[in-house]
Amino acid sequence: MPTATAISLSILFLLSLTTTIHAHNITRILAKHPEFSTFNHYLTITHLANEINRRQTITVCAVDNAAMSDLLSKGLSIQTIKNVLSLHVFADYFGSKKLHQVTKGSTSTATMYQATGEAPGTAGYVHITDVKGGKVRFTPEDNLSQTDSVYVKSILEMPYNISVIQISSILQSPEAEAPTAAPDLNLTSLLDRDGCQSFHNLLTTSGAIGTFLSSVEAGVTVFCPDDDAITAFAPKYKNLTAAEKTSLLLYHGIPVYNSMGMLRSSNGLMNTLATEGAKKKYDFTVQNDGNDVKLKTKVVTATVTGTVVDDEPIAIYTLDKVLQPRELFKGAVEEADEPAPAPKGAKKKKKAAKKGDEAEEDAEAPGPGSDEDYSDDDAADQTASSGERVVAMVSVVVMAVFDSGYHGSPTRVAHAGIEFSFYFLFLIYDLKIFILFYLS
Ligand SMILES: *[C@@H]1O[C@H](CO)[C@@H](O)[C@H](O)[C@H]1NC(C)=O
Ligand SMILES: *[C@@H]1O[C@H](CO)[C@@H](O)[C@H](O)[C@H]1NC(C)=O
Ligand SMILES: *[C@@H]1O[C@H](CO)[C@@H](O)[C@H](O)[C@H]1NC(C)=O
Ligand SMILES: *[C@@H]1O[C@H](CO)[C@@H](O)[C@H](O)[C@H]1NC(C)=O
Ligand SMILES: *[C@@H]1O[C@H](CO)[C@@H](O)[C@H](O)[C@H]1NC(C)=O
Repeated sequence: MPTATAISLSILFLLSLTTTIHAHNITRILAKHPEFSTFNHYLTITHLANEINRRQTITVCAVDNAAMSDLLSKGLSIQTIKNVLSLHVFADYFGSKKLHQVTKGSTSTATMYQATGEAPGTAGYVHITDVKGGKVRFTPEDNLSQTDSVYVKSILEMPYNISVIQISSILQSPEAEAPTAAPDLNLTSLLDRDGCQSFHNLLTTSGAIGTFLSSVEAGVTVFCPDDDAITAFAPKYKNLTAAEKTSLLLYHGIPVYNSMGMLRSSNGLMNTLATEGAKKKYDFTVQNDGNDVKLKTKVVTATVTGTVVDDEPIAIYTLDKVLQPRELFKGAVEEADEPAPAPKGAKKKKKAAKKGDEAEEDAEAPGPGSDEDYSDDDAADQTASSGERVVAMVSVVVMAVFDSGYHGSPTRVAHAGIEFSFYFLFLIYDLKIFILFYLS
């Protein structure tokens, strides 16, 4: 098999794998341990699970169901429980070994409670002490008299990404347990703040507001095109049918909460409130450009210009343009909303890529002008980075090992499956080359 083909195939095959390898899912990790089901449940309903999943280096101190019922018996609000549990998530990796070898027998670590900005002073820190006899004790900075919370066991270690351990009891921090104001969940009044009023009017007159309101509980992110953007878009908006208007407006909402930090650390496709399965994708790409967060549809690129509210479960940001989904504005491509359309050469090249050759697309350097993507192919296909190339090469080696005939019985079925996938992809790939060759 030619090496170039093998590498391209491996990229195709491994793109899906690499994404799953990197992400951890605390809900799934804890689901295997019923003794932590209450803790797990509260991580979900306080949205801390999402926060944990997107962190790279983290330690989660779980407590069992008995310890959780001690906490719940205090009758704290969900918001307060969230503060208490966020004190149980350290912004650093502590595996069992590291815990038993803390420098000079004691260290202090910042927690997610610290990161929220809710913690006054040093209340968001936890002391880790290696007590004589191999015990490791955890003490909240604002309750140094607590001695009953100690390391029990390791639940999962993925050095140095995530460590999940069990500790014997809840960390009792008076600051974390202090009553906190619940976030304002009145989306109607939040949307009336500066920057969103024109968009809010459209939501109200079209009736699309209902979908936004019913999404609040599970978390929602709203992108409000600012008043100027709405005015500039008015002629196009008028031309849409009522159903299309609704879809366009729903396209400006995401059915999950995204903090500014989350937007900055995520590049890729996002589904919206307008998304209905594969036929009506209504998705767009989030792309970070320095400090700017850009939202790219196939038709237009908008920039996030400000934050109206960012308080879980609601985030509202302003945009400099109305997002135009390709589902409604497919023919609008030539209109080139953008100030700097791609040079003719680059556009031609895109057309060639559009015929479907992944290898050619991969080779396409992101030169000036190719920034804007008017082509129809999936943005996710264009993310082959140098890291993935390394992975691809590794996989070529792996293939070589497979081909040299490893027949360990437990992997035999997987082996056959992988080989089949490769041959199948190989077939498709060759077909594409043939078609491309024939057309040119
Ligand atoms: C994590 O796992 C749970 C349970 O398996 C699942 O419901 C949830 O969608 C997963 N979350 C992510 C972000 O994959
Ligand atoms: C400090 O922790 C202990 C448990 O060791 C608890 O009994 C006490 O109430 C806590 N103090 C405060 C002020 O919360
Ligand atoms: C930890 O995360 C990094 C970066 O996302 C990843 O490359 C690495 O494979 C992860 N390690 C483990 C053990 O999953
Ligand atoms: C939300 O705010 C609007 C406008 O400020 C007000 O009319 C409405 O009564 C509020 N709704 C709730 C449920 O508080
Ligand atoms: C709206 O539709 C009319 C009639 O189809 C067309 O002439 C006009 O150019 C459209 N306006 C915009 C801004 O798309």
